[in-house]
Amino acid sequence: MKFRKGFVVLLSVLFAFAAEAAPSRVLKLGHAVPEENAYHYGALKFKELVESETKGDIQIDVFPNNQLGTGERDIIEGLQLGTVDIYFGSTGPMGGFEKKFLLFDFPFLFRDKKHVYEVLDGEIGKYVMGLLDSKGIHGLAWMENGFRNLTNAKRAVNSPDDVKGLKVRTMENKVHMAMWRVLGVDPTPMAWSEVFTALQQGTIDGQENPVPVIYTSKLYEVQKHLALTRHVFSPAMILVAKPLFDSLSPERQKIFEKAALEAALHERAVCDKMENDFIDSLKKSGMEISTPNLAPFQEASRKVYDEFRGELGDDAKLLEQILASGK
Ligand code: PAF
Repeated sequence: MKFRKGFVVLLSVLFAFAAEAAPSRVLKLGHAVPEENAYHYGALKFKELVESETKGDIQIDVFPNNQLGTGERDIIEGLQLGTVDIYFGSTGPMGGFEKKFLLFDFPFLFRDKKHVYEVLDGEIGKYVMGLLDSKGIHGLAWMENGFRNLTNAKRAVNSPDDVKGLKVRTMENKVHMAMWRVLGVDPTPMAWSEVFTALQQGTIDGQENPVPVIYTSKLYEVQKHLALTRHVFSPAMILVAKPLFDSLSPERQKIFEKAALEAALHERAVCDKMENDFIDSLKKSGMEISTPNLAPFQEASRKVYDEFRGELGDDAKLLEQILASGK
């Protein structure tokens, strides 16, 4: 009898311990790129910080490579639908959720990373990020995807004439598409998960992305030419589903905010290093790299400013503010 009582006590202690150790929340974090990409390093940092600060009570499971959707738009929609909790990725599709995000999609807007972060970490970045709250999404931090460059399988690109007639995959972003259209390119928006196969099968000639994406997604296997066009800077963000964020206690919200800032800084540093290091890796992998004079590309893409300024309403003045900053 004594033995049975002891056994019951032991069992209840074990159950209590197990209950305490089990996380009360398991969250899904999704991104669209392979584990070698900087987003993944950022995501792992965020996971580590949140899990250790909550002593394991919140667990974050990281799903790379479009496991939670066909591409970034799909994953962001998941935040609104409640099927995804946290997103690490570019702002490419964000203009479709909140028009003011188009502000960052204008060609040749940012000169360098110093310029980028003066804007994103400043008032403009805070303002644009804050607009997401009314869309059921909460922005936690700005990260980077990098300056986008053109790759294609047909020819070296040294001038705007060389891009004429190419069929190029773009993100689902109307400002980006317009930029390529004025250059005589046939822009073809497509979810990221479909791009490698489309390049391999030749249904498109090229695509455009930052160097870290081109290398970690092994595009050198299906693309011969890389032109360092740096035609648009691609910001990235850490986003969380707003109902989830609102359900956290103020202390836990702080943990999320602090972890996101730290993870974003980590991601930025990793991405920046990759942007430099992977140029050589791409050469070694057989890509031919050109550095075109960007002035004629810039000149041609001015038309895009006239075409889309109106979409920003009163905030079109922010374009001039951005262009004038970071000097
Ligand atoms: O081209 C895209 O869709 C994005 O740049 C990518 C590769 C998903 C990274 O954010």
